[in-house]
Order: sequence, then C-alpha cells, then structure tokens
Amino acid sequence: MRLLKKNPRNWRVKSGQPLTEMDKKILSFQNRGCLVPTRDLIKTPEQIDGIRRAGTLNTAVLDHVAEHIHEGMSTLDIDKLVHEFTIQHGGIPAPLNYEGFPKSCCTSINEVVCHGIPDAEEILEAGDIINVDCTTILDGFYADASRMFIIGETTPERKKLVQVAKECLEVGAAACKPYTFVGDSAAAITKHAHQNGCTVVRDLCGHGVGNAFHEEPDMEHWGRKGTGMLLVPGMVFTIEPMINAGDWQVFVDSEDEWTVVTEDYSDSAQWEHTFLMTEDGLEILTY
Ligand code: MF3
Ligand code: CO
Ligand code: CO
Repeated sequence: MRLLKKNPRNWRVKSGQPLTEMDKKILSFQNRGCLVPTRDLIKTPEQIDGIRRAGTLNTAVLDHVAEHIHEGMSTLDIDKLVHEFTIQHGGIPAPLNYEGFPKSCCTSINEVVCHGIPDAEEILEAGDIINVDCTTILDGFYADASRMFIIGETTPERKKLVQVAKECLEVGAAACKPYTFVGDSAAAITKHAHQNGCTVVRDLCGHGVGNAFHEEPDMEHWGRKGTGMLLVPGMVFTIEPMINAGDWQVFVDSEDEWTVVTEDYSDSAQWEHTFLMTEDGLEILTY
C-alpha cells in the first residue's frame, strides 16, 4: 500500500526529551494543519557562523563588481571579476556548473528577469539596468545575494522600477517575523509592487540556503497571507522578488534553457539578500 502524504507532519519532537517552548509553538501550528519546517531547516550556531562568513565574502564580491562595472564592458568581464575575486579569497562561485550553468554568476539586463548567462558578445550600454546575482561557497556554506546596477544615465521609468524592486525586498523582509508565514511576506511584496504599477513574477521564488544552494522552503513573492511554510528562528533563506514594469508572465529561452525573459519584453528588476530569522525578525547575512 502507499502512504498518502496529505499533511506532512514535518516537526518531530526529540524522543525522551521534554518539549521545548519552540516545540510547543510549532506543534500548535502543525496540529492546525499548517506547513511547518523540518528540524534540519533550523540552523545550528556553527552553521549560522559559517553562512555568515560566506555572506561576508559574497558581499565583498558584489562590492568588487560595484567598483568595476562600467559601460562598454561585457557581461563575461563581470563574470571574470566575480570568478577571480571569489577564488582569490578562498571561496567557490556556486553557479559554476550548478545544474549545468556554465558561468560563475548571473547577469540579467533589462527585460531579462534572472539567470542571464555572462557572454563576451553582450556589452553594457548606457541606460541599461542589470542584475548581478552572486552566490559564494565558503568552507561548505552558501550565501546568495544580488543587486541592480544602472549603467550611465537611464530613464525615469527604469530608475523607478529599480527602486520599487528594492523596496519590495525591504517590505517583504519587514513582514517576516517569527511564526509568520511565507505568504505574509509575499502579500506585502505583492501589495507594494501593485501600488507602484508593477507586477510580481510568480514562476520563480526565493529559497532556504546555507548548507546547500537551494533548500526548503519555497519563498514565494506573490500570494496570500497565511499560506506557505511557517518561519521560525534559526531558519536561513533568501528573499529575491522579481518585479516587472509590464505583465508578470515570463518564459525561459529555449536555446540556452536558462535565461528567463518577460513575456511582453518589459523591463524587470530584482534585489536579493540572504537572511537569518532571529527572535525579533530578520537579520541580513549578506551586508
Ligand atoms: N542565484 C540564483 C538564486 O538567487 C540562482 C542561480 S542558479 C544558476 O537563486 F545556476 F543560474 F546560477
Ligand atoms: Co541569487
Ligand atoms: Co537565490
């Protein structure tokens, strides 16, 4: 016979030990049918320390990109900056060879939503908006963050989109308190994007991170309050809303099978941080 897993009882108490305050809280949600984390999603102090150090290096990588990015360079030049700096500092760029990804970072210009592949033929032009997404492995721990860069002068519309995307990350993070749900953050992001005439990409989400590149939970950016996984202290995850100037629909380039592009070719912007859930809310590990 097959076991139906309709309501996964993710949280198991340690047998023979009294229930902790955390056990009691999580069990009360689980018993109401909520999706709760598995115990391995709660990081140990040693793991948090390792992810924090990976985050510090990842921030230095993005700072290095910020210092050297300029009009006329190729996205492959950005990849070289990321690759060399990371290796020199004892890290490994996580994207390289990840599920067949060929480069060390993602570079996503204008209508490219995410997962753009650095390319010698792709030259940064004045007015472009570009997301550079870096993930660093240090001593086996992962941290993931991305930023937008504006090349030269751009249009007011593009400036606004970049700013709104940044605010969406901020409001999404502010909505994450201990014992709230992924959907609470998603609802706050969706509200802010819509108030500003923008849309939220629905087909890609943030993720748990730290011991691996992509872990549970799915950190959705579009949705309703109270849905998705319960967020509890000790969890580490990204928030990385992809915000479109036009419609929310996207497609994946059928030639490279990576590049995600807006269906209507409108511009898209994204900012990402890796966060630790603490007793009082999120702490950024990629500053
Ligand atoms: N860094 C991306 C993220 O935020 C993932 C890129 S996967 C890659 O989750 F293979 F394209 F690098
Ligand atoms: Co990323
Ligand atoms: Co990510």
